[in-house]
Amino acid sequence: MAIEAFDVVDLIHSKRDRGVLSTAQISWLVDAYTRGYVADEQMAAMAMAIFLNGMERREIRDLTLAMIASGETMNFSGLPKKTTDKHSTGGVGDKITLPLAPLVACFGVAVPQLSGRGLGHTGGTLDKLESIPGWQANISGERMRQILDDVGAVVCAAGSGLAPADGKLYALRDITGTVESIPLIASSIMSKKIAEGTSALVLDVKFGSGAFLKDIAQSRELAQTMVALGEDAGVATSALLTNMNVPLGLAIGNANEVRESVEVLAGGGPSDIIALTVALAREMLRHAGQPDADVEAALTDGRAMDCWNRMIRAQGGDPSAALPVARETHVVTAPRDGVLVEQLALPFGIAAWRLGAGRARKQDPVQHAAGIDLHAKPGDRVTAGQPLFTLSADEPERFARALEALEGAYRIGEAGDEVLTGGPLIAERIGA
Ligand code: URA
Repeated sequence: MAIEAFDVVDLIHSKRDRGVLSTAQISWLVDAYTRGYVADEQMAAMAMAIFLNGMERREIRDLTLAMIASGETMNFSGLPKKTTDKHSTGGVGDKITLPLAPLVACFGVAVPQLSGRGLGHTGGTLDKLESIPGWQANISGERMRQILDDVGAVVCAAGSGLAPADGKLYALRDITGTVESIPLIASSIMSKKIAEGTSALVLDVKFGSGAFLKDIAQSRELAQTMVALGEDAGVATSALLTNMNVPLGLAIGNANEVRESVEVLAGGGPSDIIALTVALAREMLRHAGQPDADVEAALTDGRAMDCWNRMIRAQGGDPSAALPVARETHVVTAPRDGVLVEQLALPFGIAAWRLGAGRARKQDPVQHAAGIDLHAKPGDRVTAGQPLFTLSADEPERFARALEALEGAYRIGEAGDEVLTGGPLIAERIGA
C-alpha cells in the first residue's frame, strides 16, 4: 500500500485550531478524498472547521485548483468565437440564463452554460428547460462544441467528470450544515467554471432573503473572492451584486418560468427580468470585446428569439410545443384595498418547492407545471378581491403546506407606506 503524504486527522486539528493549510496539504486532502482514502466523516469535520475558521485567499485558490485537478477540463480555444459564461449563485424566480444565453449568442459569442438541477428552494436551469417537450440536458462534449459553433449557446448538464471532488464535497456540505461558507462556495463554483474552459465569466452574486448569503457585505466578499480566483486562473471575471429579497419576475417554477423567458425574448416580459438580462448581457459582451452592442434591440427585433429557437431544437426540444399545465390551481386574493408593500423571496421559493417545482432529494423528479404566478409586485396598488398570486400543482393536497409557507410572506399597506424591496435590483459591479 502506498504511503500517504499526510495524516488527515493532523490537518483537521490544524484547521480546527485556526491553522493555515499548505498547498501540498490541500492538494493531498482533495485528492485523497476523491480517491476515497479520506472518509466522508473526516471531510465533514474539515468542512465544518473551514466553515467556522475560514481560509486565507491562498488556501481558497489551492482548494479551487485541487478540485479542478480532481477531474477533466474542457477547452474551447479551437472555437472560432470568444467564449463567455454567466453563473448565478441562485435565487427565487431566477430564470435569467434562459433569455440571456441566446441573447449573447446572437452577437456571435459562444455561451457554454453547464448548469445544475435545483435543490431546496432555488430552482435549477435544467429542470426549467426540461419542461420543453423533447429537450435533452445530457449531450456529449463533441455535440456541445458543434452547437456552440453553429448556434452559439448551449445549456447542458455538467458531466460527472468535471471537478468530481466538488460534486462529492457539495453533496456532503448539503447534509452537514456547511453550505454557507465563503471559501467553500467560492471554490465550489469557480472550480467548475474554470474547468469548463470559458475565457470570460460574469457572476450574478445574490444577496437578500432568497439568497444563500442574506447580507450584502458577505455577498460582496464572495464576489471579490470569486473574481480574484477567476483572474488568477486567466479567466476574465466580473460580478454584479443583485437583490434577491423579492422574487425575480412574476413566475416561480419550471414551465411558467420558460413561458416568462419566451415573453422576454419576444420583446415583452417583466421589467426586472429585462433589466437584469440586459445588464448581464452587456457585461458578457464587454468581456467578448463588444461593449457597445445594442442588446435591447436584439430582444425586440427577434434576433435573440431566433437563437433561442435554434438552441432548443439543437437539443431535441420543440420550441413551439405547448408547455405542461398543472391539473389544479388555487388563487389567493387581496383581503383589502391598498398597496403591496412587501413580498419576500424565500417563502415564495419554499412554497413553489412544496407545490412540487423543486426537489428535497437529488434523485426526486420535479413537477414541471407546479409553481406560483404572481399577479402583483411590491409597489403595485391592489383592490379587495383582486388575485395576488396563483398556486399551481398536480396534487391539490400540496396547497395547504405551500400556503403555510406563505404566511407573513406578503403585506398590504396604505398608499405612502414604505415599499420594502431591500434596495435596487443591481447594487454593485465588482471586477475589471
Ligand atoms: N453552488 C455551487 O455550485 N456550490 C456552492 O457551494 C453553492 C452554490
